[in-house]
Amino acid sequence: MKYVFKNAMVLTMNNDELLESCDVLVENDQISAVGSLNNEQINNARVIDASGKLLMPGLINAHCHVPMTLLRNYADDLNLQTWLFDHIFPVEERLQGEDIYYGSLLGIMEMIASGTTCFIDMYDHMDDLARAVEESGIRAQLSRGMMNTGSGPDFSEDARLNESIDFYKKWNGAANGRITGAFAPHAIYTCSPAYIRTIVETAQKYDAPIHVHLDETLTEHEDCLKKYGKTPTKHLLDLGVFEQKTVAAHCVWITEDDARILADKKVTMAHNPSSNLKLASGIAPVPKALSMGVNVALGTDGASSNNNLNMFEEIHLAALIHKGTNRDPLLINAMESLKMATLNGATALGMDNMGVIKEGAKADVILIDMDKPHLMPIHNIVSALAYSVQASDVCLTMVDGVILYENGEFKTIDKEKVIHGIKKCYERIFQ
Ligand code: NI
Repeated sequence: MKYVFKNAMVLTMNNDELLESCDVLVENDQISAVGSLNNEQINNARVIDASGKLLMPGLINAHCHVPMTLLRNYADDLNLQTWLFDHIFPVEERLQGEDIYYGSLLGIMEMIASGTTCFIDMYDHMDDLARAVEESGIRAQLSRGMMNTGSGPDFSEDARLNESIDFYKKWNGAANGRITGAFAPHAIYTCSPAYIRTIVETAQKYDAPIHVHLDETLTEHEDCLKKYGKTPTKHLLDLGVFEQKTVAAHCVWITEDDARILADKKVTMAHNPSSNLKLASGIAPVPKALSMGVNVALGTDGASSNNNLNMFEEIHLAALIHKGTNRDPLLINAMESLKMATLNGATALGMDNMGVIKEGAKADVILIDMDKPHLMPIHNIVSALAYSVQASDVCLTMVDGVILYENGEFKTIDKEKVIHGIKKCYERIFQ
């Protein structure tokens, strides 16, 4: 299929370039031209009038647990340990494949309606999650979250590890490459060192990336110092985790030395401002990490600790909270925050043809209706995107050259079926 976005404002994210009125040609899964197009290029294309609208790369959610939409507003105003161990884990024990499938589709609907085109996720019942990704047309890096059950040292019979391997073999590169796999030791407080080492060896065998929670709370940080005599980051470094391409979610309590390790090892820090604020985990030292060369991406975390999957809200918060807590209005400007949600997310995935509008890049793009009272006048588009845009201003979402959402309509997901499915799951799990 061939599309032309005609007369769009384009924020390319390529050297901060902003094009005032421009045509963008999409052929198959790629952007094939940016600029004025001739008749031959436009021939046989669907022309989308994008005047008054802004085209930009789709947002990349670097840390999520998408099926947790089912637990949205279920357990709030609690600290992380109580929330997770007393409320979330017991319900998750009861979840079945169907719950994961519908919970994922619900989350994906929310994501594509708010401009997210790709997400990095760890959860359980991954075949059902991957099926939702495959059918919906969104892009995702997926991994089965692993926690220790056996004591080791031999984990060859470990069910979660074996599921992870089977999942990776089955789904990595599936759906025209939209789905990629990873290995996910959940966190240092749920995985023993021997278990993490085994997971690393497995990831090495498949040359696969790693997704892990890291240094999320002060409790995690202090317990690690007591138990292992080092910080959580140093602990994962010594276990060899960072030899694989790694996305580490949170990193709230990292030290300056830790940030140096993350920069040296090219580990992506997935910053989750809403989740960290809601669980009162703290505020990650993002300005410091960025200044030391750490790749910082943005994520929502699951919908039960956020309680939505709205990346524009994360962009907004990321651009505000570091200013406020450091009493420095120059920290994390609008463009830096947008980069975290686009380019840096692509870097986290090792995809230099994503998170940017340029010839040859993946056609993962969104269109934003700028013709709204809360966006006028448009003095500065970058500021408008970070500080004024609402997720509901997204009017079109395209992934891999396929339109998934346009003017309030889901093109690949049957909304009524998902709502019906969610109601059934909700009744079975909670009533
Ligand atoms: Ni998480």
